[in-house]
Amino acid sequence: MANKRPPEETDTSLDINGQRHGAQTLVLKPVLRTSHSQPSALRETDAMLEEAVGLALAIDLDVVGSESFNLAHPTPSTLLGSGLVEEYAEQIKDKEIELVIIDHTLSPVQQRNLERDWKCKVIDRTGLILEIFGARARTKEGQLQVELAALSYQKSRLVRSWTHLERQRGGFGFLGGPGESQLELDRRIITQRIVKLKDELEQVRRTRGLQREARQKAEHPTIVLVGYTNAGKSTLFNKLTGAGVMAKDMLFATLDPSMRGIKLPSGREVILSDTVGFITDLPTHLIDAFRATLEEVQFADVILHVRDITHPEARLQKESVESILADLGIEPDDARLIEVMNKADLLDEDERANLRDYAARQTWNGQHALNLDGLNHEARGGAVAVSALTGEGINDLLTLLDEQLAERLEIYDMTLPISDGAALAWLYGHGKILDKRDTKTKTHLKAMMDPADLGRFLSRFGKIAHVKDQDRSR
Ligand code: GTP
Repeated sequence: MANKRPPEETDTSLDINGQRHGAQTLVLKPVLRTSHSQPSALRETDAMLEEAVGLALAIDLDVVGSESFNLAHPTPSTLLGSGLVEEYAEQIKDKEIELVIIDHTLSPVQQRNLERDWKCKVIDRTGLILEIFGARARTKEGQLQVELAALSYQKSRLVRSWTHLERQRGGFGFLGGPGESQLELDRRIITQRIVKLKDELEQVRRTRGLQREARQKAEHPTIVLVGYTNAGKSTLFNKLTGAGVMAKDMLFATLDPSMRGIKLPSGREVILSDTVGFITDLPTHLIDAFRATLEEVQFADVILHVRDITHPEARLQKESVESILADLGIEPDDARLIEVMNKADLLDEDERANLRDYAARQTWNGQHALNLDGLNHEARGGAVAVSALTGEGINDLLTLLDEQLAERLEIYDMTLPISDGAALAWLYGHGKILDKRDTKTKTHLKAMMDPADLGRFLSRFGKIAHVKDQDRSR
């Protein structure tokens, strides 16, 4: 997206495509007294700082220092008070810091003043996350979304602080200096670009919608991995597929959905799909872009919520994932949801035993509800403890997936023309044939399969196959 930015935007962004990649970086986390009412105030300062450092590492910056500090009163011109500004100026000089990340929102004026005082590049949290999204966006839709978010962010800054542009333009010849009319022009250019981007995005979405329809009709059940950033989704995805998706100790290792086909122990074939990681306190401008990358979760047959169970804030992370899922219409008691408690290898034996107990209870409760009242929506999908790294518990997860999908199986009576080998082969591939009788012209079958698979079958072979609904298998 960097090459598409209007020239005036460069001052607020980190040139990650140029020499700044790998820049000597200092990460600073101001802890504001006024932020106590925010949910983030509950989080340990250390964990917040660690996450900020993780974000910086995600685009290969060389983090040579990281500190948090209390800030009683934000200073309008520099955010930090003059004492702190001076203190850090020395450190920045001594350590030859090229870039300072302030894990907070900076106004353009504050950013400019700090850059002047510290004689290095300064970016805020939103700027950093935009760079990460920009660096990770691989699909057309991802790139458009990120550019849109970047422009919206930029536009809001134009409105609030034209002095920023005034300084930037310097000698570029606007009689009497850049005034309101130049600001209007800048805003209009950005607005036009935003309108165009939204159009493009709509078109890409439409195509994707078609692809999704095609997938639902023609392919296999979809299993989607969601979870907090760094929970281990990519590692689990790799373990499950053997695919070469990026899995490093980096945040946002995946922005665009990656998909692979896998075979479950029963022989059932499913599509596994990885999604972008969740993050705390996502800046408002980025929420739409982030949610849009999760659209497909709504259409999944199974949703694996991957958790780093050893994280000090595991519970808060779970709540924040659940709240975004709820926004997408997926409630915590959704039967499609399986809780995958990852990184079990880092726990001692007692803790692991507790986790396995918990998992068994969750799974049993889910199935219990199913067996008692036969209502799918009353049941949770269950839970399982795994280590995506060592492979511990992966077989349990695969079995659980099979069970989850099997829970939905129905038995259907069907009749096919005897000559149609393709339809029969499809049924063998996607379901279980319980009974088969041939007459001269027709094959009569009793087949057990997922209703979603029946839909897929009918969209392909509906013209030749006759299907009669039967009772559930259990
Ligand atoms: P994003 O793509 O940023 O959302 O992250 P992710 O959820 O895909 O996490 P990823 O798979 O990249 O893993 C993050 C870090 O956790 C890596 O350093 C992994 O090696 C590590 N990790 C993943 N699973 C396990 C596990 O089961 N045990 C241990 N000890 N480490 C793990």
